[in-house]
Amino acid sequence: MLPLVLDIVLATLSFPSVDALDNGLERTPAMGWNPYNAFLCDTNEAQYHAAAQALAQSGLPKLGYKYFNIDCGWQGTNRTADGVFTWNTTRIPSGIPALASYVHDLGLDFGVYSDAGYFSCDFVGGTAGWLGSLNHEQSDADTFASWGADYLKYDNCYAVSPTDFVDMNPPISLEPHFTAMRDALNSTGRPIVFSVCEWGVQDPARWASEVGNSWRVSNDIGPPPSWDNLVRIINQVVPITQFASPGAFNDLDLLEVGNQGLTTAEQETHFAFWAAAKSPLFISTDLTTATKETLSILSNPGIIALNQDVLGKSIGFKRRYTNDSDIWAGPLADNSTAVVIINWQNVSRPVTFYLSDVGFSAADATNVRTQEFLGTLRDS
Ligand SMILES: *[C@@H]1O[C@H](CO)[C@@H](O)[C@H](O)[C@H]1NC(C)=O
Ligand SMILES: *[C@@H]1O[C@H](CO)[C@@H](O)[C@H](O)[C@H]1NC(C)=O
Ligand SMILES: *[C@@H]1O[C@H](CO)[C@@H](O)[C@H](O)[C@H]1NC(C)=O
Ligand SMILES: *[C@@H]1O[C@H](CO)[C@@H](O)[C@H](O)[C@H]1NC(C)=O
Ligand SMILES: *[C@@H]1O[C@H](CO)[C@@H](O)[C@H](O)[C@H]1NC(C)=O
Ligand SMILES: *[C@@H]1O[C@H](CO)[C@@H](O)[C@H](O)[C@H]1NC(C)=O
Repeated sequence: MLPLVLDIVLATLSFPSVDALDNGLERTPAMGWNPYNAFLCDTNEAQYHAAAQALAQSGLPKLGYKYFNIDCGWQGTNRTADGVFTWNTTRIPSGIPALASYVHDLGLDFGVYSDAGYFSCDFVGGTAGWLGSLNHEQSDADTFASWGADYLKYDNCYAVSPTDFVDMNPPISLEPHFTAMRDALNSTGRPIVFSVCEWGVQDPARWASEVGNSWRVSNDIGPPPSWDNLVRIINQVVPITQFASPGAFNDLDLLEVGNQGLTTAEQETHFAFWAAAKSPLFISTDLTTATKETLSILSNPGIIALNQDVLGKSIGFKRRYTNDSDIWAGPLADNSTAVVIINWQNVSRPVTFYLSDVGFSAADATNVRTQEFLGTLRDS
């Protein structure tokens, strides 16, 4: 090991005081449904109708899950002669405006998807040639607004060139791609939540709060779902939790709750952490076949309330007990403190939590998951 002496006496730690995007939207993290973790880019109109019906009838919208978003796969490969964005008429025979109406008629908001590059992402190695919005930002924003979009997820494939599919170390600054679409959306006059999805490349937490309502902090959570992916994303958010605020949130990616590959305890940990870190909560499982257990995890009122707390501050990393447990905590609007304890061992067991790890010696405690009042805790 290299011994180091660091003189931190004169160092000033300053956090840039960036303002959140001034579009008045997403004051608490957005909640809804997105097809990607369940269907990838392989989607069609009938599937969307069934999914929107299932969401509307699930009871989830009244808990806050109001956005019904589409992801990759519906786009055309050629614009109209006037340069207007198109859809694949085989997959979406009635068209995207009709789909937006269908979703709105169910009482849901409609989210569309595009890409900040020459083409959009696909699941066939970047050969689909689906339209991207680079250099067409205003035209596409106007089109999405005219279709009735309430939300735009804006991806990052082919950002550098028409032949560079996914570039995790691009030689260009990505920020201008996203500010161009931010400004284009603003010019439409329609309130449209702007979701920046450039996979955490170039540390968006430090610039995207003025650009989007949320920014992805990491590469994709899957597929397939795995505990390793959850651990990767939890670790990735450690240095950036302080950047979450109303209108501007760290996006830890779509939920895997309900998908094969995670135990129930792992799914509960995933959901509670995403909620407390103030990530947007997008269900991404097939709701037409969702089990009671899946719906029960996604419906937990205490966890949802944590996510939707109006203060909009994330939990932050307080202490890691090696190979044992993590303590995370953050403030809530009523001046109480949310604490998340992660059990890193793959067994059900008692874990001792020391109040001193979050700056208390005594506190009244409530179990958020069960809403059970635990009494006044002293020391641990
Ligand atoms: C349509 O787009 C594809 C893929 O980008 C391209 O190869 C093709 O030449 C375009 N067709 C027309 C008629 O522009
Ligand atoms: C349109 O969708 C159909 C049906 O999934 C597919 O076979 C076709 O390749 C798609 N066309 C384009 C241009 O992506
Ligand atoms: C556009 O931006 C201005 C502030 O720069 C804001 O007041 C307004 O609400 C925005 N409009 C939309 C539709 O986002
Ligand atoms: C929270 O604490 C602040 C400062 O101590 C106080 O001004 C405010 O009224 C408190 N809010 C609530 C909801 O108790
Ligand atoms: C970490 O904990 C697991 C039990 O969950 C154990 O199998 C493993 O050996 C531990 N690793 C270390 C480095 O202590
Ligand atoms: C934890 O144990 C269960 C079996 O009880 C297993 O299915 C799961 O994959 C394990 N998770 C990890 C992260 O090893």
